[in-house]
Amino acid sequence: MTAAPLEGLARRPVVAAPMAGGVSTPELAAAAGDAGGLGFLAGGYRTAAELAGDIAKTRALTSAPFGVNLFVPGDDRPEPEALRAYAERISSDADLAGVTLGEPRADDDDWAAKFDGLLADPVPVVSFTFGCPTAERIAALRERGSRVWVTVTTPDEALAADAAGADALVVQGSEAGGHRAGFPAGGPEEGGEIGLLPLIALVRTVSGLPLVAAGGIMRDAAVAAVRSAGAGAAQAGTAFLLAPEAGTHPVHRAALRRPGRTALTRAFTGKPARGLVNEFMRRHSAYAPIAYPHIHHMTRPLRAAAGKAGDPDAMSLWAGQGFRLAEERPAAEIVERLSP
Ligand SMILES: Cc1cc2nc3c(=O)[nH]c(=O)nc-3n(C[C@H](O)[C@H](O)[C@H](O)COP(=O)(O)O)c2cc1C
Repeated sequence: MTAAPLEGLARRPVVAAPMAGGVSTPELAAAAGDAGGLGFLAGGYRTAAELAGDIAKTRALTSAPFGVNLFVPGDDRPEPEALRAYAERISSDADLAGVTLGEPRADDDDWAAKFDGLLADPVPVVSFTFGCPTAERIAALRERGSRVWVTVTTPDEALAADAAGADALVVQGSEAGGHRAGFPAGGPEEGGEIGLLPLIALVRTVSGLPLVAAGGIMRDAAVAAVRSAGAGAAQAGTAFLLAPEAGTHPVHRAALRRPGRTALTRAFTGKPARGLVNEFMRRHSAYAPIAYPHIHHMTRPLRAAAGKAGDPDAMSLWAGQGFRLAEERPAAEIVERLSP
């Protein structure tokens, strides 16, 4: 019941977090695995074919086990009027960048095809964010030998993931960079977010599953802290953003090296995510509706143009609260820096 989540998978209690948007490359996953941690591929925003290609490439680079992460489709149903109002609000940004805003549509991120791909060609670990798959889907993956991890941000989500048959829980504290992993109906509203240490303790009161702690973990001492708090391993994202193996955009890399602060925002995607505070966030965070992935599609051309133009003020610059401690080092050294 309380077996270490990485038993048989990694020598060190360190997981290189899945980071969608091109950050988690096969090279990063392989380097983390070769260094004795557990690497991850991010399935989010990839097609099923692209993900299959990433898996093949990772296998060619390493014999170490690795995980694959998928976004569970949500059920946001924003009012068309709220989407129109937000589009109007950010239209001057689009005009300035010389782009047309994207269509604010729903989609399921190619969920079924990616899931079926993982059944047909299993990997050692499959982790989920933004929700919990059904008990049937979790059982199907486990029958094929994959361990199933579900990311949770509250004790209620932990209870639901435990009941659905997860092997382990990734507990994501509010310090974490990137999107909040909360389930569609279960996550706390912005401002009610739970920090990692209380979350580990709270989840421990409702579930005996092995825990992987995520959020603000940048050094070995923090890994030791979450382990003594009750987690078996740590999942770090921001700590790897400056590694040469990561696919982090150059504008994002440069922003991480400057002083600044992080905040949660829905401005870029319609779902709360933690990133470096920039002009777009400052101007629009208060107005963005709950509308994922609608707002993600709406702002995509704007973010892409900002990336090309080298403008950090209109891109999403996801980062956790510990970003000032991120170092430009090979992933293997970062795994070592994180190992207690
Ligand atoms: C750039 C970036 C992209 C991320 N993408 C994903 C993702 O695709 N799937 C996921 O489960 N978590 C994602 N996360 C969250 C991480 O899994 C993890 O919870 C977080 O990085 C931990 O906090 P830290 O960044 O302070 O280490 C992302 C985080 C960052 C910084």
